[in-house]
Amino acid sequence: MKIIHLSDIHLCAPGGLVEGIDPHERLARAFGHMTEHHADATRLVISGDLTHHANPDAYKALKQALRLPPMPVRLMIGNHDDRAVFLEHFPDQSIDLNGFVNHCDQVGDLRLIYCDTVRPKVHWGEFCEKRRAWLRDQLDLPGPVLLFFHHNILDLGDPCSDELSLNRADQAELRSLLKLFQHKIRHIFFGHVHESLCGTMAGIAFSGVTSTVHQTIPNLAPSDKSPSGPLEPSYRVILLRGEDVVIHQIPFAWEGEVVWHGNDWEDWA
Ligand SMILES: [Fe+2]
Repeated sequence: MKIIHLSDIHLCAPGGLVEGIDPHERLARAFGHMTEHHADATRLVISGDLTHHANPDAYKALKQALRLPPMPVRLMIGNHDDRAVFLEHFPDQSIDLNGFVNHCDQVGDLRLIYCDTVRPKVHWGEFCEKRRAWLRDQLDLPGPVLLFFHHNILDLGDPCSDELSLNRADQAELRSLLKLFQHKIRHIFFGHVHESLCGTMAGIAFSGVTSTVHQTIPNLAPSDKSPSGPLEPSYRVILLRGEDVVIHQIPFAWEGEVVWHGNDWEDWA
């Protein structure tokens, strides 16, 4: 099974720029690339920051752009989104009984769980008791799961960026919950940090994907500002093969030289 993970597309009103980059053009290229190369994907998951300022025209443009990818798409919201404005434009979106954009998907024996970590008008994340209760119900169901969040659910050792992760009280509670179900969590995915990341949390593998727009440059020294720049964007292709998870980073906007080598010894001379 193949799943595509895309994040932090930061759409503004059409015609505008974000950090000097046209996010609509980037999204169109990402969609074009995955349509050409990965049309067989079972799902496309866009893990939040669908827009830069929750502009209604940005959500309208997203709706229009989503006509292109041939695979079913699952949307999540991020700190730059507005839950109400998003739901106004995507009224068919599944939400939980408390109105959070928590939803899930059964694909074969695998359950994909999409978690809403947004607290309005702040950039750090929240996953309150009500949301944890919802997640616990999902995790109680039989079968393996993949978990998707917008925010990074643990601190990453980048002091400035860590101020914008899931808040520390919720991190601790969520960690305790996930440890109970460690055996069935195949992988945790998030966006938010605009950085290619991988690691483990309490023994559970996680990874973060870059934005389609601007990227964060890791800064592990104390600072009150985070550096970023127009580094290569990408999306991720997740291959689920039996009990294994393999994740490829796809540099869909690369315009430099590409050399094709064969596998014979002489091909690499
Ligand atoms: Fe973002």
